[in-house]
Amino acid sequence: MQVDVAIIGAGAAGMMCAAYAPGRILIVDHARAPGEKIRISGGGRCNFTNMHCGPHAFLSENPHFAKSALARYTQWDFIDLIDQHRIAWHEKTLGQLFCDTSAKEIIAMLRGLMQQNGVDLHLQTQAQDFAKTVNGFEFNLLKDGQTTRVQCNTLVIASGGKSIPKMGATGLAYDIARQFGLRVTDTRPALVPFTFPEGRFAPLAGVAAPARVTAGGTSFDEAVLFTHRGLSGPAVLQASSYWREGSPIDVNLMPDTNLFEALKEKRSQSGARKLTNELSQFLPARLVETLAQTLDLGGNIADQSDAKLAGIAGALEKWTLHPSGTEGYRTAEVTLGGIDTDDLSSKTMEAKKVPGLFFIGEAVDVTGWLGGYNFQWAWSSAMATARAL
Ligand code: FDA
Repeated sequence: MQVDVAIIGAGAAGMMCAAYAPGRILIVDHARAPGEKIRISGGGRCNFTNMHCGPHAFLSENPHFAKSALARYTQWDFIDLIDQHRIAWHEKTLGQLFCDTSAKEIIAMLRGLMQQNGVDLHLQTQAQDFAKTVNGFEFNLLKDGQTTRVQCNTLVIASGGKSIPKMGATGLAYDIARQFGLRVTDTRPALVPFTFPEGRFAPLAGVAAPARVTAGGTSFDEAVLFTHRGLSGPAVLQASSYWREGSPIDVNLMPDTNLFEALKEKRSQSGARKLTNELSQFLPARLVETLAQTLDLGGNIADQSDAKLAGIAGALEKWTLHPSGTEGYRTAEVTLGGIDTDDLSSKTMEAKKVPGLFFIGEAVDVTGWLGGYNFQWAWSSAMATARAL
């Protein structure tokens, strides 16, 4: 089989690229359906972009790399596209845009665009034995026990990262990159819950509170959620991308309140009330109960000295915790690291030393914050390639 463009991976980036690339296009995926991560994302409503998208919201060994693609296909371009397809959407919080009805509408839109573009979609199909030819590349397609050799001028790798192997994630992109002499930076699970020694937060499972979580010098203000295994919630997932094994995280349970002043105020108004009851006005009662096991929170608020109140406020504003690890690729939303951006053109995503070979989406060492940034990278990097072909 001879095609102009072969795309490996029919996820967000692969489908977007297939929808707009010129020529005869083949797209291959080993999954049963395209865009499975789109389908489950954002609780089934897909947080498809973020109004505040910009290079500041991405991690990479080269923080400048994402700028060009993000600037040339922006969040506003993607919003225009879904408006044209009459997909209703809303902002949830912090610029995060979700479908009103279902993530399936985005998949249907991309499938429709691929169909209009005459794309040949092969599902439940393996792609392997990649090789360079004089004019491009060739590889084997394996389906239902049959092998077809495919020749293409352009090979686009859009097979994503390692997150959630149960959903079909593999390290194929990294293997192909290495085979063709590109470097791959260290990869690790990101946007992932922290684990703690067994039982540490079990009594608090299900409790959520607003907090500021700091890891590796970067802080995020959003909710924290205690789980049977440890800590989750958006602030924790965000911080996980900046965390390294063995280092602590700091949790500020009072990011917007001067707790010391607030407790002094309470003491002047209602001295006969228990300190734990007063604290429960600022924090979930179950969390206060648990904190009382390590902090001295006994007695009435009237009995507490300034120094004692300052100590309690300080402890709640800087609760230092030592995660034992993360839940790993099993639940990580994304993979941090990937194809070394030094080996790719930031304008087209083409491998600098292998003309005709492109890497897009999560496979590349560009990882967004939680909140629609990762899909925007998929759309933007895919368009950078599609427009270059
Ligand atoms: P993606 O993973 O989407 O696609 C890769 C495709 O390649 C898959 O279809 C896979 O089957 C295929 N493939 C892999 N290996 C293969 C092989 N060996 N052979 C053939 N095919 C192969 N982001 C965001 O911005 N907003 C959100 O709301 C969410 N929510 C979210 C929830 C959950 C649970 C997860 C796991 C992730 C998110 N994300 C997210 C992240 C987002 O899903 C992710 O960044 C993009 O899907 C990446 O798009 P790609 O196309 O690069 O990879």
